[in-house]
Amino acid sequence: MRLLVTGGAGFIGSNFLHHVHRVMPDVTLVTLDLLTYAGNLANLAALEGSPRHRFVLGDIADRRMVNDLMAEGFDAVVHFAAESHVDRSIEDASAFVRTNVLGTHVLLDAARRHGVGRFVHVSTDEVYGSLGPEGRFQEDSPLKPTSPYAASKAAADLLVLASTRTYGFPAIVTRCSNNYGPYQFPEKLIPLFITNALEDKPLPLYGDGLHVRDWIYVEDHCAALHAILTRGRLGEIYNIGANGEMSNRALTATILRELGKPESLIRYVEDRPGHDRRYAIDATKLRSELGWAPAAGNAEWLAVTVRWYLENRSWWEAVKDGAYRSYFERMYRARLDASSAEPL
Ligand code: NAD
Ligand code: TYD
Repeated sequence: MRLLVTGGAGFIGSNFLHHVHRVMPDVTLVTLDLLTYAGNLANLAALEGSPRHRFVLGDIADRRMVNDLMAEGFDAVVHFAAESHVDRSIEDASAFVRTNVLGTHVLLDAARRHGVGRFVHVSTDEVYGSLGPEGRFQEDSPLKPTSPYAASKAAADLLVLASTRTYGFPAIVTRCSNNYGPYQFPEKLIPLFITNALEDKPLPLYGDGLHVRDWIYVEDHCAALHAILTRGRLGEIYNIGANGEMSNRALTATILRELGKPESLIRYVEDRPGHDRRYAIDATKLRSELGWAPAAGNAEWLAVTVRWYLENRSWWEAVKDGAYRSYFERMYRARLDASSAEPL
């Protein structure tokens, strides 16, 4: 199988590449990534020198480049590339609309033109909006995105689903809950709080800290995506979640306990505008159709994650101080900027 992975230098994409490289020895992998602030080649260091992996620097919204790449012929595409952070989308949604909506459209068009056999679009439970204290998101729950990030993901989901109906395009949409694990950019709650605590810096909890997220370890997400890539039904939506609901307060207390750090590091700060109160995923369809289940629960996986950040201090220190934007990456970026003056 020849597999194109977009956004593979980011958090989930890099974990997925490592997973697939390990469990599918016959697969050849191509990563397409723009190396935005969230992309980091250090996440892919373990694949360096592998004859089964190639990295391509490029923008999913660049039609010509994407067409040329797709013309190489791929059996499948797993599409992770996105702007992914809610707080940034509240500051300025432009890059979210460009990458998440236009970029997905460009990829879909090129994949269809070049006969890609399977297209897995990696989306989020945030497209469903916010829940009250009861209930869980099902695949047919209405889309009610609240943040610009979630709205751009919902728009992309609809384009993908429309392509399955209009053209019979062989796509699947997955909607996963909040991930955590190795290589997560330390602007997201869990890596931010672990690394801040390790530096004895404050942990900014938004609002009353009682917002609930449904947490899943990234490796469990990758295993679900692998099952969907190989056995999922085309044209379908699959929710992915591990019954891992926790309030931000409880999660923060767990992290501090794991690290042996005091709760006095917590600072209650002004709430995020439009902050969704609760997410919870019903993944019955995935579990019953494809036999997927998480390998462990939050207690075990959070301990594993805390240990990873303890043991990989050089990785997150380089991200936090900006050193990860290496000279090598900047050189490639300059070449890309020079060659992408063409209008979209
Ligand atoms: P991330 O921000 O860590 O990584 C995104 C990657 O996409 C980066 O490597 C970045 O360089 C690349 N990218 C951005 N714009 C690009 C462009 N125009 N062209 C090519 N590459 C580009 O994100 P993540 O947390 O790994 O999320 C991956 C996907 O999973 C996203 O689509 C996100 O919506 C979805 N998702 C994330 C979570 C989560 O908890 N992180 C949960 C559910 C779904
Ligand atoms: P985040 O990791 O940004 O994921 P999302 O908003 O996509 O769910 O945030 C997870 C939760 O943590 C969310 O309820 C917002 C909250 N949060 C804080 O309280 N403080 C922070 O500094 C961050 C980044 C998030």
